[in-house]
Amino acid sequence: MSRPIKPSSSRRPTFIHLICAATIFSLLVFLIQSYFFTSTPSKSLNVEDVQILSDFQSDVQQCVANRGFGLTAHTVDHCKLVLKFPKGTNSTWLNPQFKTYEPLEYTYDICEAVLLWEQYRNTTTVLTREYLDARPDGWMDYAAKRIAQLGAKDCSNRTLCEEHLNPILPASPPFHPRQFEKCAVVGNSGDLLKTEFGEEIDSHDAVIRDNEAPVNEKYAKHVGLKRNFRLGVRGTAKNMVPILKGSDDEVLVIKSVTHRDFNKMIDTIPNPVYLFQGIVLRRGAKGTGMKSVELALSMCDIVDIYGFTVDPGYTEWTRYFSEPRKGHNPLQGRAYYQLLECLGVSNDFPLNVLY
Ligand SMILES: *[C@@H]1O[C@H](CO)[C@@H](O)[C@H](O)[C@H]1NC(C)=O
Ligand SMILES: *[C@@H]1O[C@H](CO)[C@@H](O)[C@H](O)[C@H]1NC(C)=O
Ligand SMILES: *[C@@H]1O[C@H](CO)[C@@H](O)[C@H](O)[C@H]1NC(C)=O
Repeated sequence: MSRPIKPSSSRRPTFIHLICAATIFSLLVFLIQSYFFTSTPSKSLNVEDVQILSDFQSDVQQCVANRGFGLTAHTVDHCKLVLKFPKGTNSTWLNPQFKTYEPLEYTYDICEAVLLWEQYRNTTTVLTREYLDARPDGWMDYAAKRIAQLGAKDCSNRTLCEEHLNPILPASPPFHPRQFEKCAVVGNSGDLLKTEFGEEIDSHDAVIRDNEAPVNEKYAKHVGLKRNFRLGVRGTAKNMVPILKGSDDEVLVIKSVTHRDFNKMIDTIPNPVYLFQGIVLRRGAKGTGMKSVELALSMCDIVDIYGFTVDPGYTEWTRYFSEPRKGHNPLQGRAYYQLLECLGVSNDFPLNVLY
């Protein structure tokens, strides 16, 4: 089944304001915090509180119905929602490991998502020496988890761990909350080629990109030319040098673990390189794209995201600069993206989803 990615009448669709002014959204955050941080959560929510959460959910449901191209949202409780693809959605992607097709239903905890983002607003998301020193198991166990190919199960040989981490470990946070007013996060979706947001993307105070995303004249009108941050997974280390070429101050943030390939590469480039420091919480999607949104939320007052859509037939995950890649899970991505878009219905989120 072919689905239009957006109504043809509106090129500039949605606004998602994630978190911001002191209005309904702050109230929501407050409610959710009391809900999560009390030992008897049910007692801390009175009838009106539950009403506010329910109303918010209804808005999200309505939004999914209007913009989800067939996706529907179903309430489980006042925090949980299930997003369902229509029966018969052609999910051709087979998970080779489990020999199953992608599920057509995804459950999300909106309260958790909102809380997570609110936490990111106040934290810096780069691993620092300060953080390792302060954390009781910081140097021994935690540091070891962030180094691949360590050849040791912990950091009892501190010298060894220092050698691995020193090139990417600032003493204190290099960026602070709300350092930038407006940021653009540019995903790698092939759908970017259907729009021309290049200039708009470049008008942001900072632009965050993912992995091997090329930035050059060929794609300029679709993805812009400005480059400030790039989040990369370890597999991209070997291709990273030519990609960073010509942009000495683009900050590279390594997504999960550092390893020898990165360290070798870091020696050869002038760019600042850090290790991402995420808040550990369960959540719906953990791709590089979502991490880059989290990175942005930790540094920017307003975050606009581009290029996170999945191809209309939901059959594969396309990238603007390469052939479609089988193996990514398009339905999960599509559902999470829709949730993200629709959480903005309160109009107080600082995150704007711009296809
Ligand atoms: C699903 O898509 C695949 C490849 O795109 C196609 O071969 C197949 O016939 C489709 N199945 C249905 C039921 O539309
Ligand atoms: C984040 O910081 C703001 C302002 O300093 C504060 O009002 C808010 O409660 C903080 N949120 C969290 C989750 O710590
Ligand atoms: C600790 O690591 C350093 C650096 O790799 C190495 O030179 C040293 O021999 C190691 N010490 C022990 C006791 O293994």
